[in-house]
Amino acid sequence: MKLVQKIISLCKRRGFIFPSSEIYGGFGGVYDFGPLGFELKKNIKEAWLKVMRKEENIVPLDAAILMAPAVWQASGHLSAGFADELVECKSCHKRFKKEELKEEKCPECGGELTKPRKFNLMMKTFVGPVENETTTAYLRAETCQGIYINFLNIMNSMRLKIPFGVIQIGKAFRNEINPKNFIFRTREFEQMEMEWFCHPKEANKFFDYWTTQRIKWYYDLGIKKENLRIREVPKEERAHYAQSQIDIEYRFPFGWQEIEGIHNRGDWDLRTHSKHSGEDLRYFDQDTKEKYFPFIIETSVGVERCLFAFLSDAYQEIEGGRTKTTKATKEIEILLKLHKSLAPIKVAVLPLVRNKPELVKKAKEVYKLLKPYFSCDYDETGSIGRRYRRQDEIGTVFCLTIDFESLKQNDLTIRDRDTMAQERVKIEDLVNVLKEKFK
Ligand code: GAP
Repeated sequence: MKLVQKIISLCKRRGFIFPSSEIYGGFGGVYDFGPLGFELKKNIKEAWLKVMRKEENIVPLDAAILMAPAVWQASGHLSAGFADELVECKSCHKRFKKEELKEEKCPECGGELTKPRKFNLMMKTFVGPVENETTTAYLRAETCQGIYINFLNIMNSMRLKIPFGVIQIGKAFRNEINPKNFIFRTREFEQMEMEWFCHPKEANKFFDYWTTQRIKWYYDLGIKKENLRIREVPKEERAHYAQSQIDIEYRFPFGWQEIEGIHNRGDWDLRTHSKHSGEDLRYFDQDTKEKYFPFIIETSVGVERCLFAFLSDAYQEIEGGRTKTTKATKEIEILLKLHKSLAPIKVAVLPLVRNKPELVKKAKEVYKLLKPYFSCDYDETGSIGRRYRRQDEIGTVFCLTIDFESLKQNDLTIRDRDTMAQERVKIEDLVNVLKEKFK
């Protein structure tokens, strides 16, 4: 089985990610995040917010998904700039993105292809009871437009001075012709975007600063250095708004692909929204008396794409298993070595056996004690070795085992996911010991 298939299978089996509307045969390019997927996504978003909020002069925003269609006219998303070239096979009628084809024939059946035609990626809907052109609206294709159109509101209400940043996490939608590679390219996804408004003369400096910060974020969360690289995007490939652009790429099981874009958007956004809305979106510097359109440095990453990278990086198979003392040595063991801050379950509480009521009672007490502080699992079924492996494959950082000794000593063993080392800890010290480990 290919690595991608193995990850997809783990995600389904262990409650990370399910195909949308599965009981109705699925719904292309859309996925649901199960209990563990929810936790992992939440942890990624929190890790992003944490570093962003450490910065001076950054404020959050939660703008609506629906905006006036004029926003998308102005931004250029309704024109050719935000369209893919679509070709269709004349024999099997499958559709493909032109830029991804290696040859001028159908990759599925070898049939002849139609001439390419432009296909806009904006997802349409209608607002109000009548469905016609005047009521057409669009689901946002990027979260940042909500930031640009609120530039004045945010700056004035928060009394901000340039340079400052606005961060936002939220859903975005694109009518992708060819959603593919599991959650890599989907039609509904979440973005984490940071828009940094600065003086044009400082744009290059901040572009470099944010590039360094964003790469550091991946390294700090454990991404292997050899699996991450940056690519300077040449002019002809850049998005229509970008003066300069760097893609942070991850080495997925299917090759190097972009996970995050860092853009110097120049004054494109504020200038075009000024022109189209009639509002003066220039900044007035009280000290220098200069009036200008700030430049925008943007960092933009998809939560799901980034989650996929973290999963791929953390996934390990150990042939024969790590424990050499039990019968389980013949099996393949899966270990998900997620960074401790990203792991969906932090601790699992396991009574050594389940047919001893005293052990079960004590384990349930420990579970109840920890639940307010950590995301916890309780598991009593199967041998202890099997339960350790079940936790290892979802990345649980520590397994806490309550054994007969625990009943006498009021303690338990903490087993480390990565080293499998065990230490005994008194139950009264447990919360503090774990808090220390998760610092
Ligand atoms: N505001 C700039 C912008 O949206 P982008 O390069 O089009 O730039 C930024 O998208 C990031 O959003 C990408 O690097 C990727 O992580 C994510 N993304 C874009 N389209 C996506 C899709 N169809 N499915 C999943 N993630 C997507």
